[in-house]
Amino acid sequence: MNNRRQIIITGFMGSGKTTVARGLARILGREMLDLDQVIAEREGRTAREIIEQDGEDAFREIETRNLSEVLVNTSPGVIALGGGAWTLESNRNLINHHGGITIWLDAPFELCWDRILLSGGGRPLARDEEQARMLYTERRPQYALAKLHVQVSADKSTHDISAEIAQALRVLDKRSSDGH
Ligand code: S3P
Repeated sequence: MNNRRQIIITGFMGSGKTTVARGLARILGREMLDLDQVIAEREGRTAREIIEQDGEDAFREIETRNLSEVLVNTSPGVIALGGGAWTLESNRNLINHHGGITIWLDAPFELCWDRILLSGGGRPLARDEEQARMLYTERRPQYALAKLHVQVSADKSTHDISAEIAQALRVLDKRSSDGH
């Protein structure tokens, strides 16, 4: 496994980024970081609080700053992004510039929405189903720019998904060491 690059997990709210990143980090024996968690610790406020108090644009600035710091200052591990981070071109450029490999957890909208509801409405950008569905549709082409796409479904466990990603990363590494 190429140990020098950050592995970045993206996908819509409720696609399972944090739990899959944790599972993948365990399989690979690496550190796991959750960008929203980093933001909450450094800023003293959660993503939700920042968006509600200062607006989404202010949150995006903070998110980009923290993403940049994490990419520069942490040893290569597995990083779970918040659902909007990869949708900004400047953030994608930052990640690509640092040689990060991004994985899209492609989960059906209904599954994401069920999980958003279950989590008790902590997502200010997914206040109702219509708003969330629009955002989901709008963002799919941007998520699709990720290097690896992994299908998420209700019948796949976190472990199945993490193991599938670990295997796909091994195949990628083998291809690049074979000179493809
Ligand atoms: C956001 C997703 C959230 C959080 C913030 C904005 C988004 O993270 O970063 O509320 O724009 O999709 P999760 O994807 O972990 O819910």
